[in-house]
Amino acid sequence: MHRLWSDTLQRLSPYTPGEQAQNSDIIKLNTNEHALAPSPGAVSAGEDLDVERLRRYPDPASRLLTEAIAKANNVSPDQVLVTNGSDELLAFAWMAFLSDTDKVPAVPAMSYTFYPVWARLFGQGLHEVPMHSDLSIDVEALMSWDGPVVFPNPNAPTGLSLPLEMIEELVAHDANRLVLIDEAYFGFGATSAVSLINQYDNLLITRSFSKSHALAGLRVGYGLANANLVEGLSRVKDSFNSYPVDAYAQCVATAAISDSVWFAESSATIKENRTELTAGLTQLGFYVLTSQANFVLASHPEHTGVAVTEYLKTQNILVRSWSSYDLLPWVRITVGTKDQQACLLSALSEYLKG
Ligand SMILES: Cc1ncc(COP(=O)(O)O)c(C=O)c1O
Repeated sequence: MHRLWSDTLQRLSPYTPGEQAQNSDIIKLNTNEHALAPSPGAVSAGEDLDVERLRRYPDPASRLLTEAIAKANNVSPDQVLVTNGSDELLAFAWMAFLSDTDKVPAVPAMSYTFYPVWARLFGQGLHEVPMHSDLSIDVEALMSWDGPVVFPNPNAPTGLSLPLEMIEELVAHDANRLVLIDEAYFGFGATSAVSLINQYDNLLITRSFSKSHALAGLRVGYGLANANLVEGLSRVKDSFNSYPVDAYAQCVATAAISDSVWFAESSATIKENRTELTAGLTQLGFYVLTSQANFVLASHPEHTGVAVTEYLKTQNILVRSWSSYDLLPWVRITVGTKDQQACLLSALSEYLKG
């Protein structure tokens, strides 16, 4: 703390990202990066980028990328806004729609831990809706909340997803409140709500290239919504940073989203590996939630998530756990390559013997 810190600054409690180990010997299954390399077409588009595009400012509206995203999602370009990672889009959404209303947004109690950080940053409270006992989202409770709602689908860190009919019921329930669906983990089995955006102007979907397109290092995210919501988000963007997405990122992400073959094949591999990981963990005595994301949440009757994480770290394997009461039993493991998963399962098997 410093005497020059503002009241807002003193009030903040920043998000702590998962450890980013630089050592290449480490098996990194802690921050849900995609297990495979990104689309080769995207990589070579980046390599071929004309240096003139680096000398100049990038297109502030990321037009080519916006059009490619619109085409891939069967929507029109004015229903898309591209940002520097989906975290930035979520922050814009908080500023645009969730901060100065007298209605506090509701989120599931077990959810993305960045939401409470934005709620503090933008001076608005947050209503946490308890989970069902099976850790699924209590949609009825969200439905009866008199204010905006925000939740990931599939949810993080549970990996559980909601069916489209339930989401539509929630969106249709009250046209005067925003429903923000964070689809950071789309592409691994859950049904997207994108088909609803033409019908409901209170629905905002946020997406990321970090997980589904194996481009976490690129920092590209986007929003899909009715053109009026997109215009609102654009106004925030242009009041904050007109060029959030650099020329390299626009070029690589445009090639990545256009490579539907890579997307289909690599998503199929992740689903296959997830099935193997789930089976291996179950065989070792873990209880594993049915995930539609590129990670699984597992618990063991005799060991906390923190204990499992600490042991695996001694074996150069990183996974994620939490010390908060409701998450204490759980360990979250990113779906890896088959080799990485074999190492993980063999280390866990040794641990459980000891
Ligand atoms: C639920 C959820 N939403 C959003 C994000 C942010 O993703 P991005 O890398 O696009 O900022 C994450 C990242 O882990 C996440 O888990």
